Amino acid sequence: MVNDRALRPKFHITGGNGWINDPNGLIIHNGRYHAFFQYNPHGTEWGNISWGHVVSDDLTHWKQMPVALVPSTDGADKDGCFSGSAIEWNGKIWLLYTGHSVDKETETVTQVQCLASSSDGTEFTKHGVVIGSELLPQGYCRGDFRDPKVWRKNDKFWCVLAARAVGGKGRVLLYSSKDMFDWRFVGDLFGRDSDCDMIECPDYIDELGVLTVSEMSRPPEGYLHLNSCTTRWMQGSLDYEKGKFEYRSSGICDHGFDFYAPQSFNGAPILIAWLNMWGRSDPAKRYGFNGTLSVPRELSVVNGELCQRPIVNARKVYETTVNGKLEDKFKTGMLAISVEELRKFKLILRKSAQNHTRFELKDGVWVFDRSMSGEQITGSEKDADSVAGIRRMPYFDKKITDIVIVGDEFSVEIFVDGKALSSLLYPDHDADALELEIDCAACVYSRYEIAEDDRLKTLIRREDCI
Ligand code: FRU
Repeated sequence: MVNDRALRPKFHITGGNGWINDPNGLIIHNGRYHAFFQYNPHGTEWGNISWGHVVSDDLTHWKQMPVALVPSTDGADKDGCFSGSAIEWNGKIWLLYTGHSVDKETETVTQVQCLASSSDGTEFTKHGVVIGSELLPQGYCRGDFRDPKVWRKNDKFWCVLAARAVGGKGRVLLYSSKDMFDWRFVGDLFGRDSDCDMIECPDYIDELGVLTVSEMSRPPEGYLHLNSCTTRWMQGSLDYEKGKFEYRSSGICDHGFDFYAPQSFNGAPILIAWLNMWGRSDPAKRYGFNGTLSVPRELSVVNGELCQRPIVNARKVYETTVNGKLEDKFKTGMLAISVEELRKFKLILRKSAQNHTRFELKDGVWVFDRSMSGEQITGSEKDADSVAGIRRMPYFDKKITDIVIVGDEFSVEIFVDGKALSSLLYPDHDADALELEIDCAACVYSRYEIAEDDRLKTLIRREDCI
């Protein structure tokens, strides 16, 4: 879906005129990419939580599909079809998602896991609850049990689920099944409380040994985890027998303001996240929509560190060497800046008479500043950086530094040697000037435009994309 309305993201997934949050059910089916997402088809606020659905051949041009799941009038998902995942089995797409219901009299929340399937990839039939509260071990909350991420290994289905011990904090539970209907509890991955109030949307990427978690109210560590909700990755090994996970390295998934609830595709180590944050003012509502998903990112692990590389079906339109100053125009598309022996780097993006966004290397740390980016975005965070519109990311001095910037109407996603920093922006419509000031041994600057059609299949001919 490349939206032709002027003030809409051009190639990032959005929910038409509605609200969207987490990506759900990311799957490759019959050679096409399917993405679902938490969706309110009736308004720009969270509510009526359904599953929106888009498909793509190249992960850049997305086509809107009919809504896949809506809450039932009665029953386990009557108050929302919450987050979940998809798997292909017996030629069908199976969706495992959280049914959310609230008892009106007692205001008690119950969350259980429900199943739906589709033979044509468009219409889904619900099969009801498959992981009910009775499969929660004793001492865990029935109201905080959600977001199943399913995968298949050794002839079994496995899923990780977010949970909370009564009176405690976030946990991740592992379940297994032979047939998607009959599930059993395997283990609590860490067997103790995490440091955050609640974990959401856990994901395990078996081929990389990477577990990702989305965390509410995690205490900040320096300039990390300043957002009200954050996401972390851990790399290690999952003991499928015992249901335990041990990790050797860990880190933050994204250093920007707006990145939450990432999920990877079943079938490929490619991740998409919600490009927003709970508790923020949402200037997008002014444009009649609310919510964007991140650009798809190919994941790898290098020296124990999680690396992300954006996948964009784009065509190079300009390339130059630069040392000193460069002026250009850039709004929608991608920049690739490859630098040898970087000494100084200052980039001004989305500049107009009133607005600009700054990304700069300062005292050995990347500093992103959206204080002058356009419409102010406020949130519940009260620390100095958040109030000043600042986010920071560490810089690891290397002989060659690779910087890739993906820009769309209302967002910028910056990748430096596989580390990411993503944020929303609401600048003036004409804010498209760019200024780069750089001191280095050598630098090649390339600008890419989004390809006009989706003929290029990114997964198959990845070398054509950057
Ligand atoms: C994460 C989340 C999930 C939940 C969904 C509801 O952003 O809170 O835990 O399933 O959103 O829309």
